[in-house]
Amino acid sequence: MHFSRRTDWNTDTTPLARALAERRSSGQAVVDLTVSNPRRCGIPLPEQFLQPFLDPAVLDYDPDPRGQRAARQAVAAYYAGRGVSVEPEQMVLTTGTSEAYSFLFRMLCDPGDSVLVPVPGYPLFDYLADAESVQLVPVPMLRDHGWHLDWQQMEQSVTPRTRAVILVHPNNPTGHFTPAEESGQLFAFCRRHGLALIVDEVFLDYALESTLAPTLAPTPEADACSFLARQGSVSLFVVSGISKILGLPQMKLAWIVAAGSEPERQQALERLEVLADTFLSVSTPVQVAVRRWLPEAAVVQQQIGQRIGGNLAALDAALAAQPVRWVSRLEAQAGWYAVLRIPALHDDEEMALRLLERGVWVHPGSFFSMPSTGWLVVSLLTPEPEFGAGLRLLLESVAAMAEAAGSR
Ligand SMILES: Cc1ncc(COP(=O)(O)O)c(C=O)c1O
Repeated sequence: MHFSRRTDWNTDTTPLARALAERRSSGQAVVDLTVSNPRRCGIPLPEQFLQPFLDPAVLDYDPDPRGQRAARQAVAAYYAGRGVSVEPEQMVLTTGTSEAYSFLFRMLCDPGDSVLVPVPGYPLFDYLADAESVQLVPVPMLRDHGWHLDWQQMEQSVTPRTRAVILVHPNNPTGHFTPAEESGQLFAFCRRHGLALIVDEVFLDYALESTLAPTLAPTPEADACSFLARQGSVSLFVVSGISKILGLPQMKLAWIVAAGSEPERQQALERLEVLADTFLSVSTPVQVAVRRWLPEAAVVQQQIGQRIGGNLAALDAALAAQPVRWVSRLEAQAGWYAVLRIPALHDDEEMALRLLERGVWVHPGSFFSMPSTGWLVVSLLTPEPEFGAGLRLLLESVAAMAEAAGSR
């Protein structure tokens, strides 16, 4: 049998994943600071979320390639509630954002074409791009009082085969919003090079409130708003979905909103419709239910916001109480994660392995394409008791390692 080059992945278990599996199977305790599945994190969902499944409409099958119009209207109402005007006709529903990305890659790229992705960022893109034979070009951002696109690097990374830029707004894991001013430069960059702009806004509703994190200056509204509210005549595709908006990753519903210049926008929607029609993958029950769920988003988001705010306050208190401040955190404006700066003693995977040996499981920063030493990422959605216990283990372990290294 012949395998495609695009699936020629290294499928070996990583040393880190192997160590975690071994530790768990031997019954040793692990405090998991990477959990971000809202159900597993004990975020309660409103009981009425089950009710839509009793609606006989869930058993009907009347597929619309772009997704049921009533479901798209509910998404448009969600945006209207955030002051953004979007028409149901501008939208295609997908099963999760991964499918949204794969549709966009297929629509925009021929095999071997490239897409620029500022890093650090979300790691799933690599496999999605491989699966569509698209080359992802990581473009490191600059970190200087926040994160910024590096225009020199962006310019140097464009080739005649570049087709798009992907931006995660707010970014995961850094939690920064792309400021309004920078998006203006980005629109100009895309226009100049004839590129589409794909903006992933799955965390848009999770701005950290400065009251919860008093070290933060409030994010200006213009910086925290959707790209759909920003002016720029480029082909813009905003991707979002209910895995974060409603804390329902298991329901697999996301969307692409096409905006920007005509006639490209209409042409793009027609092509996306054919792609979606080829799969018709979004289930009827979830399209029926989302009309009833989206108006309740604030209930879920409040629970998640409380968890994140509580853990962030606990994190800041624990960091401030360190006898020696070996660990600090990067300021963030939004999202579900905290990025920790630690002494650059070992590369991050080795550090994560050593922390696991002491009973705490964290993401190495390199998982999100952070520089390879000195960074860890923890989930602020972790249930509070585990978060506190994991943090104590982490801080004690890092301090012990740093002190041992210092006395050598
Ligand atoms: C930036 C970003 N986009 C998309 C997703 C996943 O979304 P979905 O579950 O809709 O595929 C994640 C998951 O963590 C994410 O971090």
